[in-house]
Amino acid sequence: RTDDRVTLVEMGPRDGLQNEAAALTPAVRVELIRRLASTGLTHIEAGAFVSPKWVPQMAASDTVLSSLDHDAGIRYPVLVPNMKGFETARAVGARDVSVFAAASESFSRKNINCSIAESLERFRPVCEAARAEGMRLRGYVSCVMGCPYEGPIQPQAVLTVSRALMELGCEEISLGDTIGTGTPAATRQLLAVLADELPVEQLAAHFHDTYGQALANLLVALEAGVRVIDASVAGLGGCPYAKGASGNVGTEDVLYMLNGMGLETGVDLDGVVDVGAWICEHLGRPPASKAARALAAR
Ligand code: HMG
Ligand code: MG
Repeated sequence: RTDDRVTLVEMGPRDGLQNEAAALTPAVRVELIRRLASTGLTHIEAGAFVSPKWVPQMAASDTVLSSLDHDAGIRYPVLVPNMKGFETARAVGARDVSVFAAASESFSRKNINCSIAESLERFRPVCEAARAEGMRLRGYVSCVMGCPYEGPIQPQAVLTVSRALMELGCEEISLGDTIGTGTPAATRQLLAVLADELPVEQLAAHFHDTYGQALANLLVALEAGVRVIDASVAGLGGCPYAKGASGNVGTEDVLYMLNGMGLETGVDLDGVVDVGAWICEHLGRPPASKAARALAAR
């Protein structure tokens, strides 16, 4: 694929904050989203309509969503695990919703308290309602290369769940290397299997950088034709149900690489570095992104 435009889907306000020890107020979360939007990011995951008992950091996602301007040409996807979450998201103006499944049975149970098959049945009415409302619908598959409980995951398992999500109407499948154990070889093998059966335009790469493999794996994904990349400002986050997982690959690191490769995103790297420094001050932690640290030290 020769297409030189890449869409970044910013994960900081959702995947980033959901696993930070400090739960931020809705006002700070909204300010983070506004600042991210001002850097040129057009897709910003803004919250999760999940149980606040399971993920307290995402409580009050309804307040966050209500505070955003949904007509400004920026997409604010949110996670919805079931109809309850969907109804709340719709009521506060969500136009992009995402369901999330896993390629590993054990992870599915730990994360959403049901089997993979049960999760797909739970998503069916959500997907139907989302499509009836003309919403954009994304499906996540977690543990695409490895599971914290089951170890390596076979590409075939990822293909089966991805196909099921597409059949439910998901326009995009985001491939989550939840615990970051994938290597370039595994990424190449996974994408070879998937791209044989599914349109590569509908695949997104969602890589966590736990083992430092994310950029290498993204390069392989780009070579396979993937043009949608999930990343988190300052490399914030992880996953509360994947012990030891670190954040998504840093948005700054991805931007530095894409800029160097002449791939266009429309996003201002220096702007993202500033936002990362600002939110890290709120969280009382340094940025995990190496590019952010290097650029801030100039
Ligand atoms: P459950 O306990 O099986 O659900 O949880 P339930 O239907 O039996 O309901 C139990 C209680 O939860 C009830 O409240 C419900 O009202 C409430 P109670 O009567 O006890 O007071 N409830 C809800 N509250 C708010 N919003 C809702 C909702 N649904 C039920 N939508 C459930 C099932 C899915 C809700 C739960 O397991 C959950 O919330 N899990 C959180 C999962 C999560 O957010 N994980 C992190 C995001 S996924 C991720 O990070 C991976 C990703 O980044 C990709 C990758 O990296 O791999 C996407
Ligand atoms: Mg994730």
